[in-house]
Order: sequence, then structure tokens, then C-alpha cells
Amino acid sequence: MAEETKLNRREFISWFWLGWITFSVIVGIVLSALGRFLFPNVLFEKPSKFRAGMPTDYSVGVDERFKDTQSVWLVKTNQNTMYALSTVCTHLGCTPNWLSSEQKFKCPCHGSGFRPTGLNYEGPAPRPLERFAINFDETGNIVIDKSKKIMNASEWEQSEFLLKV
Ligand code: FES
Repeated sequence: MAEETKLNRREFISWFWLGWITFSVIVGIVLSALGRFLFPNVLFEKPSKFRAGMPTDYSVGVDERFKDTQSVWLVKTNQNTMYALSTVCTHLGCTPNWLSSEQKFKCPCHGSGFRPTGLNYEGPAPRPLERFAINFDETGNIVIDKSKKIMNASEWEQSEFLLKV
């Protein structure tokens, strides 16, 4: 009789631990699902506008300081204007390289070439590099707005896309 009671106590402890482990697993699954609900997997995008400093920070030519962080080349002309070019090739989206010795952008993927203006002149790219809106803020800093862009050379003279400096 005493042995039977001891056996029952062992069984009880086994069942207790099995129940406790099952309960813990279920609670873990529920908390995990709750965590995914409270903190969803959201994609955070960079703001479309950024400050690019003062015009005096730039010399004439293609400037690559925002190529990696913003996918933008800033170009200052010797006619005191500036514009912002997209670094995305208009063929299939690779990133061209700026070749200062040849004064051109050259895409490594299929060989498209672009003038410093962004005009496509060789290879399969069907149109020029896109240009982004460029303006001054109230403090005189250059502001690039990548949410506004133009695709055709006929639009290049629009004041929103050509900054007089
Ligand atoms: S992606 Fe640039 S030439 Fe094809």
C-alpha cells in the first residue's frame, strides 16, 4: 500500500512537470505571437528630402559625396547652376561609375554611358539619368527632394530641378 502511494507520488510529479512544460511552451508561443503583433516587421525608409550643404561647399563638376548614402550625384556647372542626378541606370537599375578622366558615367552592367548632364549617349539605356528636385531652405542650405523627379531632358530647365547658385 505504501509502495503504491509512493508510485502515485512519482507519477504525480511526472505529470506535474509534463503539465508545467506544456504550459510554458504554450505561453511562449502566445507571447511570441503577441510580440510579432505589437512589433510588426516594418520597413523603415529614409526620408526623401535631405540637406546637402551650401553651394560654396562644392566646386564645379560631379560631386559623389551622396552617392552611397542617398544615391545622388550633385553637379555644379560653370554657369552657376546645380542639379541632382539619380545614380540609378535607366536601363536595368545598376549604379554607373563616374569616370572623371573621361567626363562620363559608365554603367558596369551593360555599358551604357551618360554625359555629366545625365544624357544617355551609348549603350542600351533608353533615357537620361533622372533628376531630383533641388532648392534652398530658409538657411541657404541646398535641399534635395527625391520624391520629385523628372525623366526627360526636355524638362531639365524647370526651375525646381535646376538651382541657380
Ligand atoms: S543596367 Fe546599366 S546598362 Fe544595363
